[in-house]
Amino acid sequence: MSRIVYVNGEYLPEEEAKLSVFDRGFLFADAVYEVSSIIDGRLIDNQQHLLRLKRSLDELNMAEPCPMEEIERIQHEVVKRNAVSEGMLYLQVTRGAADRDFNFPADARPSLVMFTQAKKVAENPAAERGLSVITLPDLRWHRRDIKTVQLLYPSMCKEEARARGADDAWLVEDGQVTEGTSNNAWIVLHDGTLVTRQLSTDILHGITRRAVLRFARERQIRVEERPFTVEEAQGAREAFITSASAFVTPVVSIDGKPVGDGRPGDTARGLRGIYLEEAGKL
Ligand code: PDD
Repeated sequence: MSRIVYVNGEYLPEEEAKLSVFDRGFLFADAVYEVSSIIDGRLIDNQQHLLRLKRSLDELNMAEPCPMEEIERIQHEVVKRNAVSEGMLYLQVTRGAADRDFNFPADARPSLVMFTQAKKVAENPAAERGLSVITLPDLRWHRRDIKTVQLLYPSMCKEEARARGADDAWLVEDGQVTEGTSNNAWIVLHDGTLVTRQLSTDILHGITRRAVLRFARERQIRVEERPFTVEEAQGAREAFITSASAFVTPVVSIDGKPVGDGRPGDTARGLRGIYLEEAGKL
């Protein structure tokens, strides 16, 4: 069944949804995006996604394609028109179409595109069995806090992970884990403390990371926001990732070494449960 895709003011069957070949998103990856999960037809933690979208636009001096309230209204309309009760909503803003020039064009009109992906997100076999990850050097650009569509290197890393029989990759810079290819990385120390890298331009400021930090603190779970090495992660009690599509998903092996007993741990499982329970209020 064909989806209804939103493109610059129109709701179109996906086959008819098109952008110009001169669009700077295509030519320069001059575009930012957001992925919000949908549960029971509701966008989860969407205000935070919209705030981050605004921040990404501002950091790149990119105009809003329309007022943020209108973007939100369109998001709900796209979910409704596609009757998605569970899955994802993808939203992308590009600087728009202009004759090819490295400098930002003065007169381009930003493009706005949205589409849904219906899939089971709350019940996920990967969360039951846990993920195996490999580590790879973090060769991305240094403004990872801006959610741009420059996703070729993360794609290459996911391909490499698959070729080596793993589920995903964690990226490493100066001996420390930055984050996963499309998620934030966490470990659980033997005393139960959660560790995840502090916010900076080195990582994406994950919306799920933010919510999980809050849930943990509300439950008096100790948290340290700091970098950690691959060795520390391999020797940890548990490891897990967070993202809008994976929520909290356990990591059970890193570069072939089991984390803890090599099975999803209680902390990650517990935090996933809390996230799904609280998601309705986010
Ligand atoms: N990825 N780090 C990176 C590099 C990411 O691409 C993502 C999200 C995250 C987690 O952020 P959040 O909790 O806001 O989803 C961290 C999305 C899901 C994607 O690209 O599909």
